[in-house]
Amino acid sequence: MNREKAIELINTHITTPHIIKHSYAVESVMRALAKKIEPENEEMWGIAGLLHDLDNDTVDWKSDMSLHGPKTIEILKNENFGNEEMYHAICAHNPCNGTKIQNKFDRALYAADPITGFITAIALVYPDKRISSVKVKSITKRMKETRFAAGANREAMKSIEKLGIDFSDFAKLSLDAMVEIGDILGL
Ligand SMILES: [Fe+2]
Repeated sequence: MNREKAIELINTHITTPHIIKHSYAVESVMRALAKKIEPENEEMWGIAGLLHDLDNDTVDWKSDMSLHGPKTIEILKNENFGNEEMYHAICAHNPCNGTKIQNKFDRALYAADPITGFITAIALVYPDKRISSVKVKSITKRMKETRFAAGANREAMKSIEKLGIDFSDFAKLSLDAMVEIGDILGL
């Protein structure tokens, strides 16, 4: 399992630029979460973040959402890449395929996925559209405005608290991680 190969995979399988950026964003948040929770697994958590939407171009999510996740695992197995723990976390980030969240790794990915889009949406309403302008306070405030970025799953983001991390700490950790790769994200 190595990061270079994972990047090669996303560049081969994903053609939508914003999904590629999203993959890097989720990687950055997963690495930050791993450093806090399971530092020994940072590489695996980060790579799962990179690969969690690998089937973006292969599966028509709208017609059959239950394939999102399992299809990624099929691709990864064909490529001889990854391990069962990673496959489980990737499947569990999409409850529509019936995979249940069973551990910290699964939970982290489930929460990291929506917060990246949420923070991006907040950055885009700032006049300079820069992620470095985003404040933790605006993230916590926007959480309560259900019509703002309505697609961002509040329950999933908030569920990070089941790992003993306050939502505002999670917001700060995610924001800091994304600011660090602001150039890749184009924000
Ligand atoms: Fe995602």
